[in-house]
Amino acid sequence: MVTILKNNTILCGITGGVAAYKSLELVRRLKDEEASVSVIMTEAACRFVTPLSFEVASQNRVYISLFDDPMAHIHLPASASVMVIAPATANSISKFANGIADNLLSTCLLSFEGKVVIAPSMNWKMYENKIVQDNLRKLRELGVIQVGPEWGPLACGETGQGRMSEVPAILEAVTGALTAQDLDGEHILVSAGPTREYIDPVRFISNRSSGKMGYALARAARNRGAQVTLISGPTALAEPAGIEIIRVETSKEMLSAVRKNVAHATVFIMAAAVSDFAPYETFGKKLDKKSTMLLKLQETEDIISEVSRKRKRPFIIGFAAETGKQLPKAIQKMKKKGMDIMVFNDVSEKGAGFDVETNKIIIFSSDNQTETGLIHKDEAANLILDNMKQIRT
Ligand SMILES: Cc1cc2nc3c(=O)[nH]c(=O)nc-3n(C[C@H](O)[C@H](O)[C@H](O)COP(=O)(O)O)c2cc1C
Repeated sequence: MVTILKNNTILCGITGGVAAYKSLELVRRLKDEEASVSVIMTEAACRFVTPLSFEVASQNRVYISLFDDPMAHIHLPASASVMVIAPATANSISKFANGIADNLLSTCLLSFEGKVVIAPSMNWKMYENKIVQDNLRKLRELGVIQVGPEWGPLACGETGQGRMSEVPAILEAVTGALTAQDLDGEHILVSAGPTREYIDPVRFISNRSSGKMGYALARAARNRGAQVTLISGPTALAEPAGIEIIRVETSKEMLSAVRKNVAHATVFIMAAAVSDFAPYETFGKKLDKKSTMLLKLQETEDIISEVSRKRKRPFIIGFAAETGKQLPKAIQKMKKKGMDIMVFNDVSEKGAGFDVETNKIIIFSSDNQTETGLIHKDEAANLILDNMKQIRT
């Protein structure tokens, strides 16, 4: 898959913290995405991981001293799209916040004009120290993107907030830093995944939705600067960073979460595959085995229709997953439910629909129709958001 990282130069700063080894994986993942990576290590970082390891991971020379290459502090930042410092020690954070330029990394930061991502990592007492907090606040106010730290067990044996964020979260922040913030000011409510409709305490009706399309939409909207709330049915997907997640199980819980959160939303994207039917009755005790059994079902409440009936309603994007190219039926559904955009996909087509990384969609609005080939769900998400942006402006 082609991502925004491809052909961009990422300047990675590694400072002297115990999490420095994790950044080898960060550099590898950036290389996997076909980014060009230059690594700067502080002297302290070299005590934790050898420069050779970063040289191998980045397939590039590693820079350490300010004086080895006299113009590196100007040339390296000038050719980079984003700077990411992971881990960022309390010491380096304090230097960055105060304009101190006493090594190659801190000097590069001063001459860099692009977006900076930092992933602090330290003992929880150091992190909570007012000086560190003030320095981080100052950096955030200056536009530095802070990822983490997370709460959990620390290398020192204590538990608290100080663990460096995991590599996927840092990668997402770097991707976000490279993306135009054209959805800044939007509050996007996304629903994703399947629902479970219980027959008895151990059995339920569900569907094959993996949640991948909804999660891709939530990440894409966040990367483009929107504030995102994700209402997720049961999925096996990692929680995306920087997004408020509300976990639900049944269609009733999904509806109630939508009701609670839709008032603040400017856009509502209903990507969840809410069960159309639920058992007429949910039994309190596990049903005994029988040779045959009749299950009576009833229709669940339609969430999109309820939202579209609101006097003050958000822009609504819905999905129609059909088996077969039933376009007239889908368009009728769009009109009936009051959607502004409807995304059609034929889930019987190979590589489209449930539990795959790709999708093949047709995006319908009142005056436009965009048909794609088989594309990655991240790409499909951005196309859907592009359409929404076009209609809303
Ligand atoms: C074993 C050990 C582990 C350390 N881990 C951290 C850490 O995780 N975070 C941090 O801020 N400082 C940590 N330090 C302190 C830094 O290494 C020290 O402040 C150093 O001056 C940082 O330099 P730099 O910011 O130039 O890399 C650690 C020190 C030692 C000896």
